[in-house]
Amino acid sequence: SEAQRQRSKDLYTLLDDANQYYQLQLKGSPAAIEYLKGRELSGEISKRFNIGYSLSGWDHLLNHFKGSYAEQQLVDSGLVIKKDDGKIYDRYRDRIMFPIRNRKGQVIGFGGRVLGDDLPKYINSPETTVFHKGRELYGLYEARINTQKLDRIIVVEGYMDVIALAQFGVSYAVATLGTATTEEHIKQLFRAVPEIIFCFDGDRAGKEAAWRALENAMPVMQDGKEIKFLFLPDGEDPDTQIRKIGKDAFEENYQQADSLTAYFVENLHSRFNITSDEGKTRFLKEAAKLLTKMPDTLIKDQLVQRLSDMTNVDKKVLFQREISSNNSPKD
Ligand code: CTP
Ligand code: MN
Ligand code: MN
Ligand code: MN
Ligand code: MN
Repeated sequence: SEAQRQRSKDLYTLLDDANQYYQLQLKGSPAAIEYLKGRELSGEISKRFNIGYSLSGWDHLLNHFKGSYAEQQLVDSGLVIKKDDGKIYDRYRDRIMFPIRNRKGQVIGFGGRVLGDDLPKYINSPETTVFHKGRELYGLYEARINTQKLDRIIVVEGYMDVIALAQFGVSYAVATLGTATTEEHIKQLFRAVPEIIFCFDGDRAGKEAAWRALENAMPVMQDGKEIKFLFLPDGEDPDTQIRKIGKDAFEENYQQADSLTAYFVENLHSRFNITSDEGKTRFLKEAAKLLTKMPDTLIKDQLVQRLSDMTNVDKKVLFQREISSNNSPKD
């Protein structure tokens, strides 16, 4: 409705004002600037991503915005929290602030990192009328405006990964916002580029995130679109890795990345012992479960071929019942 549209418009204005405000606070906060220097972020890249800082204290933003916005608007923006007992306070306190933009470039939320080792390390905006985690990707807007010709996108886990990669010239990285990669994310990326490289942290959480990404990619795969998985050494993330090996070596590693087919097969193979009939059955059942989600494509044919080769089960009988699917690619 018109009233709703007006409220969203005000929310964008408010969030944009907050973005300016946090950036201004950073200028006057030596400890926060020191922190960013310690992370080896250049002033230029900090500006490009509009990094800011929220002061410590419970009501800096609240007081600064009280005259300009209604209390309810501040709560609706996610920047201010109102308790059941009526107590109201700033959500972000003493944190490095990363504004999150939608595809039009409008600020829709923030991530905030502590300067030290306190937990939680990151706080993200809650779902609001303008911020939907399952849909938005940190850095996509910046990738579009800073890349001459966007022909692939690398998906990483964190804010600092996106920014460090950009600082080294890999300007086409995006991050999910403390959630798994959704079908919606992948669909959106495939509208922008034909190739997605997932590159998560080289730890257990990163490996689990990669598998979740594969599961959610299955239903939206199309011929002509490519997904790759790049695994980093244990303990590294894209931020630490590119600082260690540089842009050229980082990009050369894409050649060692697993295709979706390779990762699919290797992961399942590592989980089941297919030398026994029982293990082979379970392996194929698990494979079938995933394949039913996939539309009929050449990629699916290749997968079935590989599974047939591995198990010595004829392709024609392999998944006759299980995977015959009527799924057609979703837009
Ligand atoms: N994350 C989050 N909430 C947390 C921890 C993590 O939302 N409590 C999200 C953030 O988007 C974060 C990403 O998950 O960027 C990856 O987490 P992690 O690897 O722990 O952090 P880094 O991005 O590597 O951050 P840093 O380098 O600053 O430690
Ligand atoms: Mn909405
Ligand atoms: Mn991690
Ligand atoms: Mn990191
Ligand atoms: Mn990390």
